[in-house]
Amino acid sequence: MHLKTKDKRWRVLVTRRIPRAGLALLEPDCDYHVLAEEGLPSHEDVVRAAVGVDGIISLLTERIDAAVMDAAPGLKVIANYAVGFDHVDLAEARRRGVLVTNTPGVLTETTADFAWALILAAARRVVEGDEEVRAGRWRTWEPEGLLGVDIHHAVLGVVGYGRIGQAVARRGAGFGMRVIFHDPGEQESVPLDDLLRQADIISLHVPLTPATRHFIDRERLRLCKPTAVLVNTSRGGVVDQDALAEALAAGTIFSAGLDVFESEPLSPDHPLCRLKNVVLAPHIASASRATRDRMAVMAATNLLAALRGETPPNLVVRP
Ligand code: GLV
Ligand code: GLV
Repeated sequence: MHLKTKDKRWRVLVTRRIPRAGLALLEPDCDYHVLAEEGLPSHEDVVRAAVGVDGIISLLTERIDAAVMDAAPGLKVIANYAVGFDHVDLAEARRRGVLVTNTPGVLTETTADFAWALILAAARRVVEGDEEVRAGRWRTWEPEGLLGVDIHHAVLGVVGYGRIGQAVARRGAGFGMRVIFHDPGEQESVPLDDLLRQADIISLHVPLTPATRHFIDRERLRLCKPTAVLVNTSRGGVVDQDALAEALAAGTIFSAGLDVFESEPLSPDHPLCRLKNVVLAPHIASASRATRDRMAVMAATNLLAALRGETPPNLVVRP
């Protein structure tokens, strides 16, 4: 079904600037408006800019809720520039017959690479070492200076064994690790509490849903080995961040690497920022040039398919 008449161009809101590769695809058929060329638009700005649009490309930084959808009664699609879509009100979208899409697959390997960057940095104290060198505190080679934990031949516990979790696990094989995972959908899934007791390195790869909010809470952190390293590249809300800061401060786990936070950006006043045994990254796991370009193409392709009345390749909500 072709909904577009010859002279109608679709009106598209792009909430923030995305790579050119995606915008170029929109040009032939859409009048698009990039709301924020830089920085973050407010929710009010998004609502105002959504008035009358046929489609929205949004980022994980914008809450796309009923107010946004109300502004655009003809809205056909919310094409999300991210694999995670916890910031989109799916129930509202479904109720209105608005399609929601995401960008899975293209960022899997890049995100898994970064989970490993955090694993290595947190286990081997790479950032602390860098700080010592720069600050002129490096005096001598020391038999017991900056001791970390071994990754090779350790037990890797992957929580959420989807695309990204599996890509992280594959890399573990190169380090001779034994991999265990927790994922209720998978046959060899280990109960989460057992995984936390056994794993030396724990990497989180579950989407944020009501069921996974504070999946790793104070009780569960207590199950971890004092030598454990916890890495989160999924969503901040999966971990009780305050409980994690306490566990790190008390040394009941060895270290952590975090790319995601309960509220982003993380305030520099947060207790986590005062701890040496945590490596903090500003939500950059998928940030390679090639991957961010592919995500833009994928979001635009999904949007255009939906506007043409076709089934977008990466639907997360069907009408
Ligand atoms: C990034 O966090 C994403 O969901 O793509
Ligand atoms: C360390 O540099 C070593 O030679 O053991």
